[in-house]
Amino acid sequence: MRGIVFRSIIIFSGVVTLLACGAETPVNITAILDQPRTFVGSDTCKQCHLEHYDSWKMTLHSRMIQDARANRDAIVVPIVEERIREDLAKLGDTLKVPADQIYVPKVEEILYTIGSQWKQRFIVRKDGTLYISPVQYNVETDRWVNYHEQDWDKRPWLLKCGGCHATGVDLEKDNFIEAGVSCEACHGKGSWHAVLPKTAVFEKRQNIINPAKLTLGVATQICGSCHNRGAATQHKGAGWPVGYEPGKALEAYYISTSFAAGDASHLYGNEFSKAHHQQYIDWKQSKHFVEGVTCTSCHYVHQIGLPPTRSQTLSAGSKQCFSCHVQVNTNMAHAIHSFGNCVGCHMPRIVKSAESGDLHSHVFKPLLPAATLADAAMPNSCQTCHKHKNEDLQVLQNQWEALAVLPKPTGQIITPIKYEAQP
Ligand code: HEC
Ligand code: HEC
Ligand code: HEC
Ligand code: HEC
Ligand code: HEC
Ligand code: HEC
Ligand code: HEC
Ligand code: HEC
Repeated sequence: MRGIVFRSIIIFSGVVTLLACGAETPVNITAILDQPRTFVGSDTCKQCHLEHYDSWKMTLHSRMIQDARANRDAIVVPIVEERIREDLAKLGDTLKVPADQIYVPKVEEILYTIGSQWKQRFIVRKDGTLYISPVQYNVETDRWVNYHEQDWDKRPWLLKCGGCHATGVDLEKDNFIEAGVSCEACHGKGSWHAVLPKTAVFEKRQNIINPAKLTLGVATQICGSCHNRGAATQHKGAGWPVGYEPGKALEAYYISTSFAAGDASHLYGNEFSKAHHQQYIDWKQSKHFVEGVTCTSCHYVHQIGLPPTRSQTLSAGSKQCFSCHVQVNTNMAHAIHSFGNCVGCHMPRIVKSAESGDLHSHVFKPLLPAATLADAAMPNSCQTCHKHKNEDLQVLQNQWEALAVLPKPTGQIITPIKYEAQP
């Protein structure tokens, strides 16, 4: 159907060439529309969507993969071999290769950096292929750790990670269009949109994905194509959904991992995430998923006119929750605490990126001490704060249970009586 529309436009526009706004070189529309859609890169989008571009540039999405040769500052820590080996040596028996034999890249061998906020890894080339070198820097704790020291050169970066960190990854051609999570990672290939004139009969919007116009489920799958963990269905061995494009059904390209399927290293026994980039897996189990409260209900991706916040949240910390939960009952757990730290209990930091507990759970369900009493490997919300007091878990659980059996207030709200001042 769309194909037919495009053809008729071509007949009308014939050999007309257009100046893409701001661009120096004329664009041959017919030639572009005769080709399948391709990636054009964020610099092209920038020509017409400068505000979106600027605000996206402020987010970590744009900085996930950085060219370390073009910008040495992308490397967040000095690469000093002795210091790195010293840290590795502290890991002792857990290493599969002795600390003094692990490959440590020289700074000039680092082609790209991966990440910057929680941890940083480094891409190097070996025999023409890009690999992740086997050392990792943990930012918050300022320490180096090992990363696949025994088989790092058997795990090509593009295959294992590429599609979640870069845009337009092509495994056949062994390349990618743009480093980082760029416009087209969420909006789809933009070549047709970028050149088609906006006319009464043909609106630009028909050939680019606007997630806001998709059904909530399909729109959230765009985020879920990366904030997820599992296996590609269309390409053996790939860690990301090869072939998926925004607007398509993610399940056809990717199967999420689960504890039930035997993945105890990335999930706890109750299917809450233990490892990072699994927000979609968590969220799918939540009441928010059921009720259509999606990633973009709480997070912006390019917010125009608002100051940047930590984690791209629409407002800071628990204020976020108050924007919808204007009234929370004051029974039970809510009765104990005078503070309004919703995130502390409902999104406990039990997920590991660099060090355990650096990221938030996204199931939004508090974990009570009973969870840990039943399964020692399972953390709980309460002890993210109460552990420093050396509180006994059973005591905490008892306190919670005592509160939970208190009768809830019943009856009607009574209009307060207004007393007249006595004469
Ligand atoms: C030559 C100018 C131009 C370029 C280049 C361009 N756009 Fe657009 N874009 C527009 C115009 C004009 C509209 C329509 C705006 C409107 O209707 O308010 C639009 C609309 C959109 C929309 C909203 C569509 C909808 O259905 O609401 C998105 C999303 C979008 N562009 C993304 C992109 C991305 C991503 C790129 C780069 C791949 C890009 N644009 C490149 C001019 C451009
Ligand atoms: C991480 C995913 C993501 C990235 C990256 C991204 N966008 Fe968007 N974009 C969205 C979503 C989601 C919407 C829907 C509106 C919203 O929730 O902000 C949107 C909406 C838009 C719109 C429609 C107008 C509006 O603001 O609602 C335009 C235009 C647009 N994006 C352009 C861009 C451009 C240009 C880039 C790159 C510089 C870009 N986007 C990068 C996810 C993304
Ligand atoms: C192509 C993969 C990809 C897609 C699609 C994607 N993300 Fe991300 N997202 C990432 C990566 C990779 C990072 C980590 C960036 C870094 O740390 O440098 C990230 C980081 C984030 C962060 C943390 C930012 C911070 O400052 O801590 C949020 C929030 C986020 N993404 C939300 C979203 C939302 C919402 C969507 C969907 C509209 C989305 N992402 C789509 C890959 C993706
Ligand atoms: C299914 C998509 C996906 C795959 C596959 C994936 N990642 Fe990520 N990665 C993400 C997302 C999303 C984030 C940010 C959110 C988070 O960490 O929870 C992230 C975060 C990171 C960070 C931390 C970024 C920071 O700023 O601290 C590093 C480093 C990283 N990934 C490296 C890798 C490497 C190396 C591989 C391949 C072996 C890989 N990832 C595979 C999606 C993915
Ligand atoms: C109900 C609100 C809400 C929803 C829905 C939500 N998030 Fe979050 N998210 C938060 C809050 C709050 C934080 C922590 C903010 C902070 O750092 O203080 C957070 C943090 C993050 C981070 C940073 C890592 C971390 O855990 O600290 C990423 C990445 C992220 N969210 C991605 C997503 C994605 C992807 C989705 C959809 C699958 C999603 N979020 C849905 C509220 C939400
Ligand atoms: C965009 C609106 C919105 C935001 C923001 C939001 N919520 Fe919700 N939340 C809802 C809706 C709607 C429901 C389902 C209806 C209900 O149970 O109240 C819900 C349900 C819940 C539930 C489940 C209630 C139950 O009955 O099981 C919890 C817990 C919850 N939210 C906690 C939070 C926390 C914590 C935050 C902040 C990080 C937050 N919400 C932010 C809209 C929101
Ligand atoms: C001390 C920990 C704690 C704090 C702080 C906390 N909650 Fe809760 N919340 C709980 C527990 C425990 C439950 C019961 C959950 C269950 O039974 O699975 C609950 C239940 C809920 C529910 C569902 C039942 C209801 O009351 O409607 C919502 C919604 C909710 N909390 C929102 C919030 C919001 C919003 C905040 C911040 C103002 C907040 N909570 C702060 C522990 C906490
Ligand atoms: C974000 C940090 C935080 C979390 C999470 C948290 N608490 Fe607390 N808790 C406190 C602080 C601080 C106090 C001191 C009094 C106050 O602020 O209300 C307190 C007080 C209490 C008290 C009152 C008795 C006393 O020791 O003074 C009980 C009982 C309690 N918490 C139980 C729990 C339970 C059960 C959970 C998990 C559902 C939990 N708390 C989660 C910080 C936390």
